[in-house]
Amino acid sequence: MFFTERQQIEQDVETLAAIYGRERSSMITILQEIQRKHHYVSEYAMQVIAHVLDIHPVEVYSVVSFYHFLSERPQGQFVILLSDCIAHNSEEKAAVARQLETELGIQFGKTTQDGKFTLDRTGCIGMCDQGPVLRVNGRMYTEVTADKVGTLIADCVADSATGVVCDIREPSK
Ligand code: FES
Repeated sequence: MFFTERQQIEQDVETLAAIYGRERSSMITILQEIQRKHHYVSEYAMQVIAHVLDIHPVEVYSVVSFYHFLSERPQGQFVILLSDCIAHNSEEKAAVARQLETELGIQFGKTTQDGKFTLDRTGCIGMCDQGPVLRVNGRMYTEVTADKVGTLIADCVADSATGVVCDIREPSK
């Protein structure tokens, strides 16, 4: 059976609500699952979630806009976030940032044309003493150096080839 994107969202939210409940407290989990599957939370998805949980859509929107791991815009299969923590060595961090842009061929805030990678920055990640830190689909990479960036990206590509895509529920390395 062919589903439109909207029908798929409706079915996904209904399925998730059946698993996690229809209370307000289920919202984050449902949002994470929608983000993981669709690589973003569309305005329509927010409306459907609000309807199913019987809350105002503004509540859902405010949660989506607050958390960096949720996005209103389509994102790549891998979302690479570089921590902006001021305690991290700024030269090392800048070198990692430059290498990421070079390897991926995009600037921060952009997604590769093939939809595979989104590159962005994030605020506090709770690891002041282990920088530079990258978060890739929720998996943490600490003490990253510029020369490790190529391997990290290759690992992501290899993961996606085998279907073992890291996601937000996997434990940090
Ligand atoms: S302020 Fe450094 S990681 Fe939070």
